[in-house]
Amino acid sequence: MNLNRKSETMNDIKRIAINTGGGDAPGLNAVIHAAVHAARNHGWEIFGIRDGFDGLLRPENYPDGGLMKLTRPLVRNIAHLGGTILGTSNYGNPFRLRVPQPDGSFREIDRSDELVRSFREHRLDALISIGGDGSLTIARDLNKKGLRVIGVPKTIDNDLESTMTTFGFDSAVSFATECIDRLHFTAESHRRVMVVEVMGRYAGWIALHAGIAGRADAILIPEIPYDIAKVAAHIKHKTAGRDRQYSIVVVAEGAKPLGGGVKLKEAASAGHVERLGGVGEIVADRLRELTGKETRAVVLGHLLRGGQPTSLDRSLGLVFGAAAVRALVEGHDGVMVALNPPRIDYVSLKVATAKLKLVAADDYGVMTARTLDISFGDAPVSSISTYVMGRRET
Ligand code: F6P
Repeated sequence: MNLNRKSETMNDIKRIAINTGGGDAPGLNAVIHAAVHAARNHGWEIFGIRDGFDGLLRPENYPDGGLMKLTRPLVRNIAHLGGTILGTSNYGNPFRLRVPQPDGSFREIDRSDELVRSFREHRLDALISIGGDGSLTIARDLNKKGLRVIGVPKTIDNDLESTMTTFGFDSAVSFATECIDRLHFTAESHRRVMVVEVMGRYAGWIALHAGIAGRADAILIPEIPYDIAKVAAHIKHKTAGRDRQYSIVVVAEGAKPLGGGVKLKEAASAGHVERLGGVGEIVADRLRELTGKETRAVVLGHLLRGGQPTSLDRSLGLVFGAAAVRALVEGHDGVMVALNPPRIDYVSLKVATAKLKLVAADDYGVMTARTLDISFGDAPVSSISTYVMGRRET
């Protein structure tokens, strides 16, 4: 699918900007590295905007300038590094910028027109915006205001539609799997139930894939509300014999009990979405009550975002960075580069941000987990492997 908009003025590019928005993800620096090399190959100048859009919106905070001129020597050795050399922000939506008030509260103001003006003043002909759902929605809206924009899909949560995967996801799943592998030893030694909370606000992709790879006994994800009694019954059943007397439960931070809501850490406030966290501890407490087993909860949180990208995420970052420049060269505008093997597609930002990619009931990961007797807390105990076929084994 190549839903794209082509600009009439594709040959007038001389200077472009690149920014990283929202939560960081391993692979950001690889995108920057590739975009700089590709842009320089076309003779373009390329500038990094510091901290989301802050470099342009709050230049007074940057004595050395809110724009960083990016050269090949500057980005030579960054492709393998975690984080982002540009900095990022979760509070930098120019349409809803958070402004502190004298009473300690915040209000939102729209500085998007000013931002577009600032692009013009700096003679920036286009923006490569690397972000997840939130940042790409901002990119889409800036594009509507006349800014030439190419989006690059980033998020450890892998919840962006229109691309087979986002960079950052593989690094997060790999690290979560390694942590679960470690927890097997301590869980087995103490015959405990270990509950591992991973990121995944709306989508359970990290929990699902790390849970399968790490051979968890239960995986709780936002898409499948869980019944804690069913999780407990599953654990009791699986630990009843002598062969395995411990359990591992992987919980996405956005997992919800049947009929209940997510566990908030901080409510949404001006210019910022709510923060989730704490469901792992709740699940561990309930499982202790219901199974009588010792339980412990571990929150992996931002460890999943840190660290170096896996080789897959590094190469995906390079692929996307190069493709973003190619998109500009080919005259595209208002599109996101998307992985659709064997091709890279250009998908309109409107389509790319229309809805999140959630785990479907018939996703191969879900089917695999059920077949391997991993509970989602929604099926009766010991019927998991036959659940798919709709009959119960005796
Ligand atoms: O979007 C990625 C993500 O990792 C979510 O899973 C999580 O809810 C969020 O970032 C946390 O972001 P922060 O702590 O930076 O606000």
